[in-house]
Amino acid sequence: MEGFDASSYGEAFADVYDEWYGDVSDVEGTVETIAALAAGAPVLELGIGTGRLALPLARRGVEVHGIDASRAMLERLAAKAGGGAVPVVLGDFAEVAYEVAGGFGVVFAAYNTVFNLPSAADQRRCFANVAARLRPGGAFVVEAFVPSPEPEATTGSVTPSVVDAARVVLHVTRRHPRTQTVDGSIVSITEDGIRLRPWHIRYARPAELDAMAGAAGLDLERRSAGWRGEPFTSDSSSHVSVYRLRR
Ligand SMILES: C[S@@+](CC[C@H](N)C(=O)[O-])C[C@H]1O[C@@H](n2cnc3c(N)ncnc32)[C@H](O)[C@@H]1O
Repeated sequence: MEGFDASSYGEAFADVYDEWYGDVSDVEGTVETIAALAAGAPVLELGIGTGRLALPLARRGVEVHGIDASRAMLERLAAKAGGGAVPVVLGDFAEVAYEVAGGFGVVFAAYNTVFNLPSAADQRRCFANVAARLRPGGAFVVEAFVPSPEPEATTGSVTPSVVDAARVVLHVTRRHPRTQTVDGSIVSITEDGIRLRPWHIRYARPAELDAMAGAAGLDLERRSAGWRGEPFTSDSSSHVSVYRLRR
C-alpha cells in the first residue's frame, strides 16, 4: 500500500484503539498462557500498542517489555496506570535488536500482529529476529487468523458499520491473492470532513508460518484454536501457535 509504513497503522488507530479493540481477543487467556510459558522469565511483546495485553500481564507479575513502531500507540501506553514502568523501544519488530540479560523466555505477537509486516521477506526476518532474542528453549507465540480460501482475482468490498444522520463509517478492503495482502481503510465521513484510517496486512497460512519458523530454528510445539487449548481443526478460523527455539 503506497504511503504506508510500519508506523502508519498505530498512528491512524491510536486514538480509537482501546475503545474499538479493547476486548477484541481473549485477554485473560492470553495472560494466563504467556505467564505459564514464561515461568518467571522476561517476556517481549511485538507490537505492544497501548498495552491492552502487556498491562494485565505486568499486573499478573510478568516482566513484560515491548516494541512498537508507533509513537502515538506508545504514548497511550505510557499514559496508563503502570504504563510508564513497562520498558519499550520504538522501532520495527522485524529488525530491532532488543536485548535483556540471558534473553527473553517468551516473545509473543498477538491478534494478527505478525501479519502487519508487509511481505513474506519481512515476516521471515521477524522470525529470525525473534530467534535471536530468545534464551535457549524459549518460546515464540503467534496468534493469527487462518486465511479463507484464496479468491482467483483481486476482490474488494465496502461495508457500512455506521449510517446515521451525522456520520457514515465505511470499511473498505481490497484483497490481492497474488501477494497475500489486504489493503484496507476505515473511512469516517461527517459534515466536518473525512477521516481515513488505513491498514495493510500480509496474511499467511499456518503451514507457511511453520516453514518460516523452522528456517529460523523454531519448531512448532503446539497449536490450538485459541488461548485456552481449544482443539485446532481444519474448520478453525484462528490459531495460537507455540514455537520453541531449537537447542
Ligand atoms: C493490531 S495492533 C496490536 C496491539 C496489541 N498487541 C494488542 O493486541 O492490543 C498492532 C500493533 O503493532 C504495531 N506495529 C505494526 N507494525 C509494526 C512493525 N513493523 N514494527 C513494530 N510495531 C508494529 C502497531 O503500531 C500496533 O500498535
